[in-house]
Amino acid sequence: MNTDRLFRLDEKTALVTGASRGLGKAIALGFANAGADLILLSRNSETLKEVANEIREMGRKAFVFEHDVARTDQIPKVFEKMREQVGRIDILTNVAGVNLRNKAETFDAKTWQFVLDVNLTAPFVFAQQFCLACKQKRHGGKIINISSLLSEQTRPSIPAYTASKGGIKQLTKALAVEWAEYGINVNAIGPGYFETEMTAPLVQNPTFNQFVIDSTPMRRWGNADELVGAALFLASPASDFVTGQSLYVDGGWLANL
Ligand SMILES: NC(=O)c1ccc[n+]([C@@H]2O[C@H](COP(=O)([O-])OP(=O)(O)OC[C@H]3O[C@@H](n4cnc5c(N)ncnc54)[C@H](OP(=O)(O)O)[C@@H]3O)[C@@H](O)[C@H]2O)c1
Repeated sequence: MNTDRLFRLDEKTALVTGASRGLGKAIALGFANAGADLILLSRNSETLKEVANEIREMGRKAFVFEHDVARTDQIPKVFEKMREQVGRIDILTNVAGVNLRNKAETFDAKTWQFVLDVNLTAPFVFAQQFCLACKQKRHGGKIINISSLLSEQTRPSIPAYTASKGGIKQLTKALAVEWAEYGINVNAIGPGYFETEMTAPLVQNPTFNQFVIDSTPMRRWGNADELVGAALFLASPASDFVTGQSLYVDGGWLANL
């Protein structure tokens, strides 16, 4: 078998939500390097424009869309605009996410709803729009959701995040079995602990930092670029017969007792 094109994304367009920094930015740049054009979405078009410039310097196209994904009812309109402006979208990568911490007994309902909207409902609505577009134009596609170690385990003070990440793992399976017949692969990546803006308070907390190092067989945090290989696998022809799976990139955390 000729493997030259196995991990290439030439002539593909990938939408990455949460592309302004952290894991989403690394994935977007990795996809561009593999030949894809990019649609970048977050709440901050200024930061996205900087990412877009890096992508254009690689010779790929980049389109910027500013949207707060917590406004889930607006997602169909935003997706339609993307299709009008960009055309066919081949890969959907749901990366935008938040974690708001509080004890379960005093966790307020509004915060709960917000975390669930951003981390679970928004990926679902994007996936729905993506599926409808693929069906209409009779082509397949790839959906990648970002789950977490918290899809499997948890710790105190993050009930909404844990529920949302448990949900996204199961949603990935639900969509995979329904949409296999349309040629849409739906998979998840579960990062271990990666150093990003989201985890900055944890990195800076000496006790938590030591806990991560002690619990990770590789004895370190991940860096965002280390997620790109898994994302490229799930976005490219290399994963054409893979669907409904969660791939953990965690330095061995989940294997460790
Ligand atoms: N870092 C880790 O250790 C880790 C581990 C497991 C899972 N994850 C997951 O990986 C994903 C990315 O995390 P990260 O560590 O890269 O976090 P991050 O550095 O805080 O980045 C979050 C991204 O999501 C975007 N975003 C947040 N809320 C949004 C909203 N309401 N609407 C649109 N965009 C929004 C942010 O963009 P703007 O602020 O520009 O809107 C940013 O681009 C999340 O789903 C997170 O749960 C991270």
